[in-house]
Amino acid sequence: MKRETTYALSFLVLLLFSILLFNFVYPFDRQLLSRFAFLPHKSTLFRACDYSNGHWVLDETYPRQLYDENCPFLDPGFRCHQNGRKNVSFRKWRWQPHGCDIPRFNARDILEKNRNGRIVFAGDSVGRNQWESLLCMLTKGVSNVSEIYEVNGSPISKHKGYLAMRFKEYNTTVEYYRVPFLCRIGRPPLNSSNHVRSTIRLDELHWYSNKWVGANVLIFNSGHWWNQDKTIKSSIYFQEGGKVNMTMNVKEAFTRFLQTWKSWALHNLDPGSFVFFRSYSSVHFRQNGTWDDGGHCHKEKQPENDPTKLETEPYYNIFISDVVKEMQYGNRKAHFLNITYLSEFRIDGHPSKYREPGTPPNAPQDCSHWCLPGVPDTWNELLYAQLLSEKFDINKNFPERG
Ligand SMILES: *[C@@H]1O[C@H](CO)[C@@H](O)[C@H](O)[C@H]1NC(C)=O
Ligand SMILES: *[C@@H]1O[C@H](CO)[C@@H](O)[C@H](O)[C@H]1NC(C)=O
Ligand SMILES: *[C@@H]1O[C@H](CO)[C@@H](O)[C@H](O)[C@H]1NC(C)=O
Ligand SMILES: *[C@@H]1O[C@H](CO)[C@@H](O)[C@H](O)[C@H]1NC(C)=O
Ligand SMILES: *[C@@H]1O[C@H](CO)[C@@H](O)[C@H](O)[C@H]1NC(C)=O
Ligand SMILES: *[C@@H]1O[C@H](CO)[C@@H](O)[C@H](O)[C@H]1NC(C)=O
Ligand SMILES: *[C@@H]1O[C@H](CO)[C@@H](O)[C@H](O)[C@H]1NC(C)=O
Repeated sequence: MKRETTYALSFLVLLLFSILLFNFVYPFDRQLLSRFAFLPHKSTLFRACDYSNGHWVLDETYPRQLYDENCPFLDPGFRCHQNGRKNVSFRKWRWQPHGCDIPRFNARDILEKNRNGRIVFAGDSVGRNQWESLLCMLTKGVSNVSEIYEVNGSPISKHKGYLAMRFKEYNTTVEYYRVPFLCRIGRPPLNSSNHVRSTIRLDELHWYSNKWVGANVLIFNSGHWWNQDKTIKSSIYFQEGGKVNMTMNVKEAFTRFLQTWKSWALHNLDPGSFVFFRSYSSVHFRQNGTWDDGGHCHKEKQPENDPTKLETEPYYNIFISDVVKEMQYGNRKAHFLNITYLSEFRIDGHPSKYREPGTPPNAPQDCSHWCLPGVPDTWNELLYAQLLSEKFDINKNFPERG
């Protein structure tokens, strides 16, 4: 009798505890629970996966050898091992989103789904960093790497404004346009002050934008050049409608430019295209000063493990994501590719002093770009994941009639 009561009580306590535990876990980790298959609508859960939030895991099976530094499309400045960085254990970190996994990158799949199509990257040199990473990741999808070539025969170099790599087997191009501000930059109007060296035309995109029309996937980025040093302190002012505004600050200018970008995109892009604006890529001159003042990052051997040391969200991201949220075209919406938080941890991922051969020893370190293979590979994995969740396939996916 007594024993039965004890059992009953224990059971009750256990039950209560389970309910409490369930309620505690449930709101935070739906994805994990969905593995137990008692939650319906698995696909809606898949859609809801937030790849931007997670943590870095040391994974000895990494890298999955997506490519190596011998990939012919890598800028010398990103080949950190060849430039003297002996310890490449920084490649053993894998991004693990909370509550879901990143789908495995499949080069053949993305190339096949983009057959006869164009992928365009437009932005600053960190955009080129990501573009080169994607090119190398995609080489795994072709049988003959010599059948990937630049359409004008240009070598891959940071000095080129425009490079388009053709993947002959798939009749596809993956292109890069160097447009740090994305806007048109021009000579100042005749009547402006002598102070003005050139102007950033907030009401007009760069003329390269003509070439972006008709692309199937577009990945924009901007931000690093939108600062006081690269604009007003260099006598480059903002212009709208023939008028130079000598007092407009960079933040205001950036929001105005985003409105121009948005209306350009809504008017010019194909309703079947996939549009991404990648978020701000972290810069890590944390030791001994700023980039031009002896700042360095070569002593960072591991990702940051103290989240309180991460920088707060840059204002660029808040403005970009607000604009992107409003952008609905055809039956699609534009995407904010949010890689800032994951990159913010990777203080160990930059070329630092292992810059391209010929760099003078006293040159500033590079704590802005990323070694390849490296962090931008993860950005491209997330790009692929988002394309998959949008049912990307340019040859099948035209908006249905009726
Ligand atoms: C980007 O992702 C991080 C991590 O999930 C999040 O904290 C941040 O709010 C996101 N930024 C925007 C603008 O959505
Ligand atoms: C290659 O793609 C272009 C653009 O979609 C198309 O016009 C052309 O016909 C394609 N060529 C072949 C051989 O399929
Ligand atoms: C690879 O492509 C190049 C250029 O088209 C060609 O010269 C070469 O013979 C090809 N190699 C193989 C193994 O097919
Ligand atoms: C310069 O010319 C433009 C266009 O004619 C005019 O709108 C603007 O007010 C002029 N600016 C100055 C400072 O005179
Ligand atoms: C310059 O821009 C600022 C901020 O938008 C605005 O308040 C000011 O009126 C503008 N000045 C001129 C001359 O248009
Ligand atoms: C720190 O920066 C100064 C220049 O601002 C430089 O002279 C010095 O060598 C740097 N120290 C280290 C440890 O890099
Ligand atoms: C490489 O760096 C990692 C991280 O700092 C360290 O654990 C490891 O021992 C280093 N390997 C060698 C061979 O020095």
